[in-house]
Amino acid sequence: MSLSLSFGSSPSLDPYRLPRHVAIIMDGNGRWAKRRGLPRVVGHRRGVEVARKIVIKAREIGIAYLTLFAFSKENWQRPQTEVLNLLKLLEEYLKSELPTLIDKEIRFKMIGDLEDFPESLRELILRVERETSAFTKMTLVLALSYSGRAEIFKSLRAIAELVQKGLLAPQDLTDETIRKYFYFPELPDPDLLIRTSGEHRISNFFLYQLAYTELYFTSTLWPDFTEDEFLKALIDYQNRERRFGKIYEF
Ligand code: FPP
Repeated sequence: MSLSLSFGSSPSLDPYRLPRHVAIIMDGNGRWAKRRGLPRVVGHRRGVEVARKIVIKAREIGIAYLTLFAFSKENWQRPQTEVLNLLKLLEEYLKSELPTLIDKEIRFKMIGDLEDFPESLRELILRVERETSAFTKMTLVLALSYSGRAEIFKSLRAIAELVQKGLLAPQDLTDETIRKYFYFPELPDPDLLIRTSGEHRISNFFLYQLAYTELYFTSTLWPDFTEDEFLKALIDYQNRERRFGKIYEF
């Protein structure tokens, strides 16, 4: 493995025990800007730059799935100017990042309610998904207008319809059936969830999928998050013993 996996003088990452799926709640852009007397959008803009770097780093390390919570269903309730700024940044990010995604062979997928977005953005999201759909080196998932509860409701509705039509007996309901109606059924559960900015909440992210996820909280605000801190979170993850509710005897 390349030297890029080492972290300062600390132990380096074990390439054989990488989390398959890392999910990140990128929090603290607003506070970062406020502390500097700058408009919130400046924090978001810097947040996009950090996201860009972390995507590249994750690809370099060999993470198979990286999910970034970029826009929640609840974020629509922010002041209109902030929503418009976030949509504009998202559009800029997708447009400017597409060549990199292609160059690095990264597949892009969105999870969330596509129909909530204006048509031009919907088309752009679908285009980036389409043009990167064959890549297998890493999957970058952006959670956009995403809500964990909405995802569960979506599945419950589909299942209720199957039962109503007599196509599914309640006793035959499985974990697989529930996931089948999620936004991205093949997405494995996150092994590691990182949340920045010192908040210790899940905030309606991946509610079903986080059952056995390792949680990593840092007080660093997202615009100050670095590749080194990303490595630190991965190393911290590798030092944990995952038991999935079982007992391991030595
Ligand atoms: C939290 O900061 C961040 C968001 C609501 C959105 C995250 C969005 C980005 C990092 C930019 C978009 C990213 C991509 C990849 C297009 P906050 O505003 O909640 O911060 P605060 O809690 O300090 O107010």
